[in-house]
Amino acid sequence: MSFLSQTLSRVKPSPTIAMSNKAAELKAAGRDIISLSAGEPDFDTPEHIRAAGIAAIEAGHTRYTQVDGIPALKQAICDKFARDNGLDYDPAQVSVGTGGKQVLYNALMATLNPGDEVVIPAPYWVSYPDMVLLAGGQPVFIRATLDNAFKITADQLEAAITRNTKWFLFNSPSNPTGAGYTWDELKALTDVLLRHPHVHVMTDDMYEHLAYDDFRFCTPAQVEPALYDRTLTVNGVSKAYCMTGWRIGYAAGPEPLIAAMRKMQSQSTSNPCSISQHAALAALNGPHDFIAENNRAFVRRRDLVVDALNAIPGITCPRPEGAFYVYPSIAGLIGRQTPDGTRIDSDEAFATTLLEATGVAVVFGAAFGLSPAFRISYATSDAALAEACNRIGDFCGQLR
Ligand SMILES: Cc1ncc(COP(=O)(O)O)c(C=O)c1O
Repeated sequence: MSFLSQTLSRVKPSPTIAMSNKAAELKAAGRDIISLSAGEPDFDTPEHIRAAGIAAIEAGHTRYTQVDGIPALKQAICDKFARDNGLDYDPAQVSVGTGGKQVLYNALMATLNPGDEVVIPAPYWVSYPDMVLLAGGQPVFIRATLDNAFKITADQLEAAITRNTKWFLFNSPSNPTGAGYTWDELKALTDVLLRHPHVHVMTDDMYEHLAYDDFRFCTPAQVEPALYDRTLTVNGVSKAYCMTGWRIGYAAGPEPLIAAMRKMQSQSTSNPCSISQHAALAALNGPHDFIAENNRAFVRRRDLVVDALNAIPGITCPRPEGAFYVYPSIAGLIGRQTPDGTRIDSDEAFATTLLEATGVAVVFGAAFGLSPAFRISYATSDAALAEACNRIGDFCGQLR
């Protein structure tokens, strides 16, 4: 009999973390590595937020807090939802956890029974399917292809829903594609959901503030208020506020669901870090002008990368609406060989060979459920991105 649990055998470790680790190993061994695999801003946490963390320590906010968040932070989250999304929540409808990841996991653990299905558009954030499997549910994928700018259609959603569907897990702007749904595109999906009252909506709005050009972010309960009672709106401070290491995420939704999530959290981690909660409070209630400044850098880098990649024969790279990722297709390169005879027969082979040959670390598309492609995180310096694109161009130019 195996010592390790059968539940664990159903899931795989995060491939993005695995790729970052591999790049770090090569770097430690002295190789010149450019890692484009991490999903976090390269900017420091803004000064006023750092100061709030230090002040929290000095003020003695170093003990256990309420399991799913201090009242002041819950109120700030309600204010945020009202301000940014036109959504009216009471603090009792709010849950704060150790990152958006824990909040999503709590919600799935608190609701899924064997046989329950969760509809997930692919490409997806790597953790969704495995979290569903860990919670005992069944992921059901809808392919969002390059031809439709990596967005699913209403017909596809309609076809994926069965009587066992418990959740529709939605993410816009998306990790890994950066694709963002417009109001009308999202309305087409919420219209489908209106016809299926047993389906709940888990929307992961983590990249809300990282939206570019004319794109305007919107979220399901805002687009279709009739879905308010069956929507869990998840968000967090990691990406927009450059606070990935502080580990604060949150959600708002129906009170019984929030209470169930609290029960889960009370028997696993208890409260998220007290100091980080005070820093998140300062983030949500403080100035937001640095976000526009950061976004200007992200747009410049996105355009640099998209233009450079599209100039490489065999690569097609859409220009996404948000987040800090691009998801180029390498359909034109599959089947080719490197000068030393390595065959590029999958996007995993592409990413591995690219890393070994050039020191550029990207994440292969199979990890996100749509191949052949790879993901670049452009949350790094312009110089590193330009150099990485040159190396990718040289590598692809040598494929025969
Ligand atoms: C789509 C998406 N959701 C949720 C998260 C989790 O964020 P955190 O746990 O840092 O709040 C991430 C992080 O990469 C993400 O990309």
